[in-house]
Amino acid sequence: MYFPEYRPRRLRRTENLRRMVRETRLSPDMFIYPLFVRSGRGIRQAVPSMPGVFQWSRDTVVHEVKDVHGLGIPAVILFGLPEKKDEIGSEAYASDGVVQEAVKAIKDACPDLVVITDVCLCEYTSHGHCGVLHGREVDNDPTLGLLARIAVSHAQAGADMVAPSDMMDGRVGAIRESLDEEGFHQTAIMAYSAKYCSAFYGPFREAADSAPQFGDRRSYQMDPPNAREALREIQLDIEEGADIVMVKPALAYLDIIRRVREEFDWPVAAYNVSGEYAMIKAAAANGWLDEQRVMMEVLTAIHRAGADMILTYFAKDAARLLSS
Ligand code: PBG
Repeated sequence: MYFPEYRPRRLRRTENLRRMVRETRLSPDMFIYPLFVRSGRGIRQAVPSMPGVFQWSRDTVVHEVKDVHGLGIPAVILFGLPEKKDEIGSEAYASDGVVQEAVKAIKDACPDLVVITDVCLCEYTSHGHCGVLHGREVDNDPTLGLLARIAVSHAQAGADMVAPSDMMDGRVGAIRESLDEEGFHQTAIMAYSAKYCSAFYGPFREAADSAPQFGDRRSYQMDPPNAREALREIQLDIEEGADIVMVKPALAYLDIIRRVREEFDWPVAAYNVSGEYAMIKAAAANGWLDEQRVMMEVLTAIHRAGADMILTYFAKDAARLLSS
């Protein structure tokens, strides 16, 4: 059936008609809000390259999560800025580390909020790499035990879910085994499975003070031109015990999100990363883009591509808009 019998514009005529045939709907249910925590008291330190994003101390983060919870967002993911860094990232797995203490405080204040913790070494190592070094190489296998210790320490503090973002081979299996050995059968794993070596992480490295001090992450994060390899990474993580798989970043990788959605039955998360946020904020601050409309268009696109969940710094703003 062709024009003039079929006229697609008939169903675009009014907002109510458009609502009836709308294929993709966003909900706060699908948002995960990232939070940066550091030591100290009374801290709410702005991150210059990410307007609206702050570093929080243990006391102030509690107010922030109540706000997040009140907006109907079910989950947060925590990143930590330690007091001291060293070669092997010791504070990452200290029982009184900054993330562990924040998890306890948040779980006390807001028990039904899902608390996810990022499991990685880069914020905690003096060299800023996501694993331990052997010379100038990031050494895979000796890193696995440390990642598993981090995950167990987060579970002991009360985290509902751990999210390894280091991209070492075999880390999901190592973490699952250690969690189970310690009795944390119910602690879920959200794996950063297809995590690309992306320049879109720039602002995050300022927020989390985690830039590598030499070299780059190309030997462990994925090469951006590869798509089939992402499917192998996802497959491996599922076999090793991931409960949720993630594609990261989101916008330049919508094709990957779509392929993962089509090939696997597992819940798929996508990370709308710091650079994707900063670009919109910067353009909006210049009056070059309508921030709210672009934000909703981008989040809708990520969901339409196939993501069940979206980690996004826009979560609060979008949830507010969705409930207005
Ligand atoms: C830690 C980690 C990074 C991000 C999440 N976890 C940075 C990196 O790999 O350098 C990026 C998040 C963002 O850009 O918003 N490995």
